[in-house]
Parts: sequence; structure tokens; C-alpha cells
Amino acid sequence: MVKAVVLGASGGIGQPLSLLLKLSPLVDELALYDVVGSVGVATDLSHISTKAVVKGYLPADDGLKLALTGADVVVIPAGIPRKPGMTRDDLFSINAGIVRDLITGVAKYSPKAFIAIISNPVNSTVPIAAEVLKSHGVFDPARLFGVTTLDTVRSETFTAHVLGKSPTEFTIPVIGGHSGETIVPLLSLASPAVSVEGEQRDALIKRIQFGGDEVVQAKEGKGSATLSMAHAGFRFVDSILKAVSGTAGIVENTFVYLPGVEGGEAVKKITGVDYFALPVELGSSGAIKVVNVLEKVSDFEKTLLPAAYTGLSANISKGVEFVVSSA
Ligand code: NAI
Repeated sequence: MVKAVVLGASGGIGQPLSLLLKLSPLVDELALYDVVGSVGVATDLSHISTKAVVKGYLPADDGLKLALTGADVVVIPAGIPRKPGMTRDDLFSINAGIVRDLITGVAKYSPKAFIAIISNPVNSTVPIAAEVLKSHGVFDPARLFGVTTLDTVRSETFTAHVLGKSPTEFTIPVIGGHSGETIVPLLSLASPAVSVEGEQRDALIKRIQFGGDEVVQAKEGKGSATLSMAHAGFRFVDSILKAVSGTAGIVENTFVYLPGVEGGEAVKKITGVDYFALPVELGSSGAIKVVNVLEKVSDFEKTLLPAAYTGLSANISKGVEFVVSSA
């Protein structure tokens, strides 16, 4: 019996993500938690004739505790999204506290669950989550993931558009973090191989790094990516659920705590940071090992990495310090 929980289920991402989870044959129970609207969303979804039993929870009457108890996977898209002109880091002041408090609930009520964090800035919210879990003595690095799948999805789509191919053909490692220049798509390691050089390559990389801005601007102040993010979030959770149920060889790009995952120390020696997004092999216990693609990057891609390391280092420290200072 698999119980999936969405924290922030009434939002722009939460609703379509909950719909996709309700349609999944791998989910038996779906708990939807939010500070508003989650009972309505759950009632609506509960009329769909698929097997998952859906229930909505609000903060009153121990709602967070009841939603999380027995959870196998917890997905977190709670928090405010960007408006035009904002960076993901501008969301820190509000979302840091939201993630800290929700993860405190996870630490207490579902410490063994796989945790997928969507709330931005992911480069900081994942270290926040790790620090909270550590303070409760329940941090398992194999079970905590920052969801960077939308960067992967954009890489596949935009690369395919440039080359006139189908996006479903491509696998592209996207490493670093989840904001601007910390997002480094490794086109040189794309499968099947792609050949884009010069200005065309530079424009493609920039579009992948700043693809979120296109959506923020097009929505004219009404939020950021929600539908494509719900798809990406579902793809990631689906991969975890498949890996847990025994499918071998599943690899997803995701933001993990390097020292806690096999192969991570070698990557940390190169990057100098504790948290990094890269292809990670998933198994029944979560992250099994990282794939050290850094050994294979092209000379051009090497020039993109210092900015990613610098940005990540600052974002990670900010998250860690937030928990330390609010303890
Ligand atoms: P939204 O504002 O539409 O929804 C957020 C939901 O979180 C709301 O329903 C709100 O009531 C709920 N919420 C707020 N505080 C809460 C709390 N303490 N407990 C439970 N629920 C709470 O925002 P949207 O568009 O769904 O975005 C959510 C987050 O996802 C934002 O931080 C956004 O930046 C991030 N995001 C991440 C992406 C990624 O690639 N990782 C891509 C796009 C967005």
C-alpha cells in the first residue's frame, strides 16, 4: 500500500500534481494538505474512478499529523511563486519558514518517507530540510531530493525544438542547482548525441537556464510554471515509486546531499559544495548512487561551472544558517 502526500495541494502546482497522482496506478492513498482549500480539492479528485483513496487536510484538528502519518512519499509544492522581476532567491524570506515548519512535521510523523521538495529556492530549501531532519535525528540523505526535473524537461524540449526532433528522444544530464546560472545542462552528454555550437548553443543554454522567466512573464504577475511543473514533479515521484517497487536502473537528475550518497564525495571534491543536482540512480532505498558526469564535461561546459559553484555555495549557506539561527 503506497501513501503519497502533497503539502501545498491547493496551489497552482499542487492541484494538477494531485490530479496526476490520483491517476497513478502506483498510488493507493493520497493525502492532500494545505492551509486553504485542500478538502475541496480532495473531494473533487475523489470522484475520479481510479483506485487511490483521496483525503483532504487543513491545519486544524492535527491535519498535518494525520496527513503525514504512514506516508511513503511526501511532495512539497507549498509556498509563494515568483512574480515578474523576482528571482527565486527573493522567495526565501517566506518559503524558508514554510518549508522548515512542514519538514518538522515530516520529521515527527513520517521520518522514513521519501521527500521531494519543489518549493523555491530549491538550492536553499533542500539544505533547510536537511538541517531540520538532522536536528530531529532522522536525516537520511538517500530519501531527500530537490526536484530539478523541470530543468531536465525544458532541456529535452528546447533542444528538440532547435534540432527539429521529438523531445521524447532525448536524455540530457542537467547539473548544478535550480536557478539561473546554477543550472548547467550538459548538451555534450546528451543521448542521442546533439550537435549545437556557437551562438545557437549559447542561446539554447540560456533558454534552459532562464526558461522559468518566460512563464513568469507570460503569466503577467499571476505566478510561475505550474502545469509543466506538475508534469515534472509527477515524473520525479513516479520514478521514485517505480524504483521502490523494484524497477532497476532508473536515473533522474535531482538535487541531493553529496556526502550521503555513494559517489558523492568524489563529486564534492570537484564542486566544493555539499548539495548538487546531477543524475542519480534510484533504488528501493532511494538515491543509490550519483553518476559522476563531471569527469566527462566538455571544455566549454567547464567554463559554466564556476558561476554555478559560487551561486550554489551562497544559496546553501543561506539555508543552513536560517535553520541554525532560528533554532
Ligand atoms: P501557489 O501560490 O499557486 O500555491 C502554493 C500553495 O501553497 C497555496 O495553495 C498555499 O495555500 C500553500 N501554502 C502556503 N503556505 C503553506 C503551508 N504552511 N502549508 C501548506 N501549504 C501552504 O504557488 P505554485 O505556483 O503552486 O508554486 C509553489 C512553489 O513551487 C513556489 O515556491 C514556486 O516557486 C515553486 N516552483 C518550483 C519549481 C521547481 O522547478 N522546483 C517550478 C515552479 C515553481
